[in-house]
Amino acid sequence: MLAIIGGSGLSRLATLEGERRQVVRTPYGEPSGPLTFGRIRGRDVVFLARHGYGHTIAPHRVNYRANIWALKEQGVEGVISVASVGGIRADFGPGTLVIPHQIIDYTWGRRNTFFDGPGDPVVHIDFTEPYAPALRARLLAAARACGEAVHDGGVYAATQGPRLETAAEIDRLERDGADIVGMTGMPEAALAREAGLAYAAIAVVANHAAGRGTSARAIALEAIERVLEAAMARVRRIIEEVVTT
Ligand code: HPA
Repeated sequence: MLAIIGGSGLSRLATLEGERRQVVRTPYGEPSGPLTFGRIRGRDVVFLARHGYGHTIAPHRVNYRANIWALKEQGVEGVISVASVGGIRADFGPGTLVIPHQIIDYTWGRRNTFFDGPGDPVVHIDFTEPYAPALRARLLAAARACGEAVHDGGVYAATQGPRLETAAEIDRLERDGADIVGMTGMPEAALAREAGLAYAAIAVVANHAAGRGTSARAIALEAIERVLEAAMARVRRIIEEVVTT
């Protein structure tokens, strides 16, 4: 069974058959909301809205540990994260879908490991490839199969938020090698790795990053909802395809 974590613009999967919600508790506290179980084309899927079903949990407040733990407990084989981002690269304009291959983590103060109990042994996970190559490949193949254009690869900069970045911060992220910027990619990806779950992401470009393109002077927040709504229809098609592969 695959798990889908939906971000801004994707707080439900309309296509889930036999939908049923279940509240789950974890040693790390409460996940962002109940898990939603259902089937897509006959395959079991579990869905979780990262910011809560009413979109009330800010990126720095998401209980990433509880979310990953809750999904792990369901015995999922992998997690597909859907996350909205700003586009740093000039050709990553609003509506672009990116399957990122790398992460740079700029977040701070988040509970970013399962291995920090008193007396727990120190554990260092390998994170050279933060996204699971096989699950990335499945996403790319699914996008191809349903005719949705996605970019294969991109460096995701995870910022703290909840504010958007300054233009100079985006310049710095670009110098660092980042192509897209979002607020929720970490520690989610690292926790999935710690939990032994394959993890890959579909990043949906909601806007040009600060100081770039149509965001040269300001980010037009009112336009974002419209962009995400159109893009999420495409994301849903890719998800419908990937669960059957
Ligand atoms: N920056 C950070 N996170 C985002 C952005 C952005 O421009 N757009 C959507 N999520």
